Amino acid sequence: MILQENVLLAPLTTFHIGGSARIFIAARSEKDIEDAIVLARTRGLPLHVLGGGSNILVPDAGVDGVVLRIQLAGVAFQNDGADTLLVAGAGELWDTVVDAVGTRGMFGIENLAGIPGTVGGATVQNIGAYGAELADVFEYADTIDRTTGVHARIGKKDAALAYRTSFFKNNRNCIITAVALRFSSAGAPNISYPDLARARSAGEPLAAPADIARAVRAIRAKKFPRNDAEGTAGSFFKNPVVSRELADSLRARFPDLPTFPQEDGRVKLALAWLLDHALSLKGYAGGPVRLYEKQPLVVVARAGARAHDVEALARHIAERVQKELGIGIEREVELFG
Ligand code: EPU
Repeated sequence: MILQENVLLAPLTTFHIGGSARIFIAARSEKDIEDAIVLARTRGLPLHVLGGGSNILVPDAGVDGVVLRIQLAGVAFQNDGADTLLVAGAGELWDTVVDAVGTRGMFGIENLAGIPGTVGGATVQNIGAYGAELADVFEYADTIDRTTGVHARIGKKDAALAYRTSFFKNNRNCIITAVALRFSSAGAPNISYPDLARARSAGEPLAAPADIARAVRAIRAKKFPRNDAEGTAGSFFKNPVVSRELADSLRARFPDLPTFPQEDGRVKLALAWLLDHALSLKGYAGGPVRLYEKQPLVVVARAGARAHDVEALARHIAERVQKELGIGIEREVELFG
C-alpha cells in the first residue's frame, strides 16, 4: 500500500474541482483495500472511496480523511452455457470494458459507450443511457465490508439496481472490488432511443455492437462539452419522478413535455426539456459555471470554478424548478467526503 499526504483531488475528477485529501491511497489489490481500512480505523479518520471521479463534486476545503482510489484492474471472460460472463476489476475504465465486449461481437452495453468512470462507479450508480442500463447485464459484485472486513458476493436481487441508484449507493460500507456482467448469445441491437433511431434513419450502419458504440460516442460528443476543455460530471440532477396528477397538470401547461410512465404509476419527466422550454435556463450562468447550451441538465465548469460556485448554481436551479413548476428535484452528482 502506498500512502500519500495532501493530494489534490481536482485532477482526479471530471469536474476538475475540489481541494486535497489528507491521506490518499491508490488501491491496486484487495490487500491494499484491507490495509487502508485498518489505517483509517487506527488513525480515527473517515474513509472515502473514489472511482473515476466522474460523478462527484469535491468540496473546495478538500477531504479531511482517507481517500481510497479503487484501481483494481483485470478483464476476464468465462463461458457460462450459451452466455458469456465478463468479470472486471472495479477500477477498470468502463469504456474499455465496452470496447472489450463489443470486439467480441456481444450486445448489451454498446449503448453505454463513452461514459466516463470506472466499472465500480458505474455499478454504484447503475449508469444508464440511450435506452440501456447496467442493470440489464449485471450478474454480481464482489465486495469487502469496511466495518467487518468480510468479503461477500452480492447478486442481482440484493444489488437492487434502480434508476441511478443501488444497494451499494445506500450502503457505503460495501466496497466493490470486481463486477460480473452477463452477455447472452441471443443479444440484439437496441436502437429505439430517439437519438439512435435518428442515426439509423440517417443511414448509419447500426448492425454490430461496435457500430452502435461509435454512434453513441458521436451523439455524446455533440451533447457534452469536451472534458479536457471544461469540467463536468454529466447530468447534475436526476430526471424527477412525480405523481400522475402533477405530470398531468404539467402536460396541460406544456403539451410537448416528454414523459415516461413508471411501473408504480408515477411519471418520469425530462428535466432537460423543462429547463430548456419551460424555464429558458439553457446556458444560464452563475459566474464560471453554467447549464450547458446543448444539454441543460449538464452543469459545466470553466477552469478556476470552485465547488461553491457549483453549489450556488445548483441551489438556484432547484429553487426555480420548485417555485415555478412545483417539482422537488434531486441531485445525481454526489458531494464527496
Ligand atoms: N431536451 C431539450 N433541450 C435540450 C436537451 C434535451 O428539450 O437542450 C429534451 C430532449 O429533446 C429529450 C429530453 O430533453 O426529449 C431528454 O434529453 P436526453 O435524451 O439528452 O436525456 P436526459 O434525460 O436529459 C438522460 C441521462 C443521461 C443520458 C441520456 C441519454 C439522467 C439524469 N440523465 O439524460 O445520463 O446520457 O439520458 O440516454 O437520467 C448522466 O447520468 O450523467 C447522464 C449524462
